[in-house]
Amino acid sequence: MTDSRIATARLGATGPEVGVQGLGCMGMSFGYGPADADESRATLERALELGVTLYDTADAYGAGENERFLSPFFKAHRDEVVIATKFALAIPPDDPTRRVIRNDEPYIRQAVEASLRRLDVDVIDLYYMHRRDVNIPIEETVAVMADLVREGKVKHLGLSEVTGAELRAAQGVHPIAAVQSEWSLFSRDIEANVVPTARELGVALVPYSPLGRGFLTGSFAKAEDLTTDDFRRQQPRFTGENATTNAALLTPIRTVAEAHGSTPGQIALAWVQQQAALHGLPVIPIPGTRKATRVEENAGATRIVLTEEELALLDPIAAQVAGDRYADMRFASAGRE
Ligand SMILES: NC(=O)c1ccc[n+]([C@@H]2O[C@H](COP(=O)([O-])OP(=O)(O)OC[C@H]3O[C@@H](n4cnc5c(N)ncnc54)[C@H](OP(=O)(O)O)[C@@H]3O)[C@@H](O)[C@H]2O)c1
Repeated sequence: MTDSRIATARLGATGPEVGVQGLGCMGMSFGYGPADADESRATLERALELGVTLYDTADAYGAGENERFLSPFFKAHRDEVVIATKFALAIPPDDPTRRVIRNDEPYIRQAVEASLRRLDVDVIDLYYMHRRDVNIPIEETVAVMADLVREGKVKHLGLSEVTGAELRAAQGVHPIAAVQSEWSLFSRDIEANVVPTARELGVALVPYSPLGRGFLTGSFAKAEDLTTDDFRRQQPRFTGENATTNAALLTPIRTVAEAHGSTPGQIALAWVQQQAALHGLPVIPIPGTRKATRVEENAGATRIVLTEEELALLDPIAAQVAGDRYADMRFASAGRE
């Protein structure tokens, strides 16, 4: 082990202690263009050396492929890692290219068995509802998830992209360890309701896409910079004039990065990490990367502290972002609030 391990935080009042930054594993199998399996494996090992213990996947990432890919790493380090996976984005039998949201008991039961099988572990440490099916009361879904805890298939429960009211209703059924939602310098809608509710209820926040899906690092500036199979090409923020407007918003991030001798991505991560102190709740971002050098860079961001002046410089960015974070905002909690 190195002496450069990151700090830890508790995953909500009821959850385990984890490295204060997790690792998003989605891109290793899905969504963000071609991935090199050896490079991804080296990234996982380096992350663990640095004290990153929360690993994020979902059954939907590559139709199970991401869980299968991660399984040997998880099994080799079972006692050191906290495995987070998700259910709810189902593949309809008539069209493998589509996803439908399913929160019903028969679906959840077959999804958890399939994830356990692909991961090849006895228990999932943190099991999230990935998206909310508004036709099913959330209390019903969480009651099924609570049964999975009692049955020993799952240790802790999480919810992704729920509203503050949905979180409160869920917590009435079973303790929720974490809410996973998009939170970054570009996406701050959850600060209105979700974050204060999580704080009140002792639930941790796990920000996904804390690097704005990579855009905040400056590694791409528009959809055309990405490979044709990259799903970010469809996202409103990265196309046409929106991309031009949004690329210009990186200027204050670069200014702050220069002052710290860091990268813009590190400033984006430091900003989201610092929301823990500002809002008074555990915040464990899960930046996604497939490169060991980047996982080192990202972990280094946990040690950067931004000044009041720097926070004030970064504060106006989100309000100026052009384009929604999803083409259909009902897919996100803000679309239902
Ligand atoms: N609950 C949900 O609905 C939901 C939605 C989206 C994502 N997620 C989870 O959250 C995780 C993170 O989100 P995300 O991957 O969408 O976005 P992100 O973490 O904001 O950004 C990831 C992108 O940034 C690049 N990157 C990472 N570190 C970098 C660095 N230091 N310098 C330059 N580029 C860097 C990555 O490229 P390389 O991989 O090539 O390094 C990748 O393209 C996912 O892996 C997934 O587990 C959950």
